[in-house]
Amino acid sequence: MGSLINKRVLLGVTGGIAAYKSADLVRRLRDTGAEVRVIMTRSATEFITPLTLQAVSGHPVHQQLLDTGPGLKHAGAGAEAAGMGHIELARWADAVLVAPASANFLARLAQGRADDLLSAVCLATEAPVAVAPAMNQQMWNNTATQSNLATIKKNAIRIFGPGEGSQACGEVGPGRMLEPVELVTLASELFATGELDGLTVLVTAGPTWEAIDPVRGLTNRSSGKMGYAVAQAAAESGARVILVSGPTSLPDPERVRSLHVESAQEMYDAVHQHAAKADIFIGVAAVADYRPARAAERKIKKTEIKLTLELERNPDILASVAALRPAPFMVGFAAETENLEQNARAKLESKKLDLVAANRVGADIGFAADENSLLLVGREDITELPTQSKTKLARALIHHIAARYHAKNDTKVHRLQRP
Ligand code: C5P
Repeated sequence: MGSLINKRVLLGVTGGIAAYKSADLVRRLRDTGAEVRVIMTRSATEFITPLTLQAVSGHPVHQQLLDTGPGLKHAGAGAEAAGMGHIELARWADAVLVAPASANFLARLAQGRADDLLSAVCLATEAPVAVAPAMNQQMWNNTATQSNLATIKKNAIRIFGPGEGSQACGEVGPGRMLEPVELVTLASELFATGELDGLTVLVTAGPTWEAIDPVRGLTNRSSGKMGYAVAQAAAESGARVILVSGPTSLPDPERVRSLHVESAQEMYDAVHQHAAKADIFIGVAAVADYRPARAAERKIKKTEIKLTLELERNPDILASVAALRPAPFMVGFAAETENLEQNARAKLESKKLDLVAANRVGADIGFAADENSLLLVGREDITELPTQSKTKLARALIHHIAARYHAKNDTKVHRLQRP
């Protein structure tokens, strides 16, 4: 099962009596860790007020396709909700859930309409879209509705439910919206791909800290965000994940075994305790290349005019795991200021890797940022993952790694052929 922790769920509410359950749905989504924003169609407001959904979601409800507020380039934390247009909302969402979805809305979705905010967002988003139909059983069984559903499914939109039972109109049959608790479970499964089911993934993340004395050390600007997102995405894909992290201020990712270390040597030791059982190794950590040859036992006093620090090489963790026999599927990162592809290819060869994920770093991109882009350099192909949140980027990277891993090991084919 997937998780909704830190996921951005855009809830669409359309006109139907089940809209009274949407407030409970918002509350439950938030209780499981999701951030929720709500779009209401005009007819939804006949059943429940925007004020109610604003109160339970903690954000103004979006209703208009053409908002007069300013557009936002990056609709991140703290963005003024009222200023988010359909493109910003579409990009903001990790998933779009329309509950209740009326027969009329399903028809609009099937046609690819974009003349109200909710349908435009469904058309514009790259995030998974799911609908929870709610309607009278005759309307549900009508061939027009069923053919709209077939079209929607073909467009990779997920259908949650409907349930069967007594309906608000007094009839009995299929067409009841699933209960909020069931919808929350199904929504969380949108993030569970199962692509790495049963595999063990070892990830390094964050900077390392190389002690000079008990209070000072050498480190770098890595925040750990990318590595933690990669560990999280691997867990969502069904892997057992062990994360070996240098010092960061981030909370441990959910359903991941996190091991905390400080120095490169400690990271090396922790990695090698687990490397033999890893199917995939992903080195995201910004490991210090050098460490002080001797760490002073006491705080160094400023008595001398000049102080010379002697540095010695740290072990290359990535290369040492790649040298194991058998070696896991090896993924390295390359943070470069220039010649991205060339440097990535050189790293691929010299460290004997299967894939290098290269990203440009500079004063304003890379390390502490919430967004990033990657150039994935493999032995035979190059793929570009465009700028997006580190969470989404990590999912795309894991998807890419899973495909390459299974191609190399022939395992997916095997598993698919098994009855
Ligand atoms: O050689 P360079 O430091 O540019 O390579 C970066 C890649 O190697 C990253 O995946 C990083 O995690 C890994 N690395 C390592 N141990 C080191 C240095 C880098 O695992 N000592």
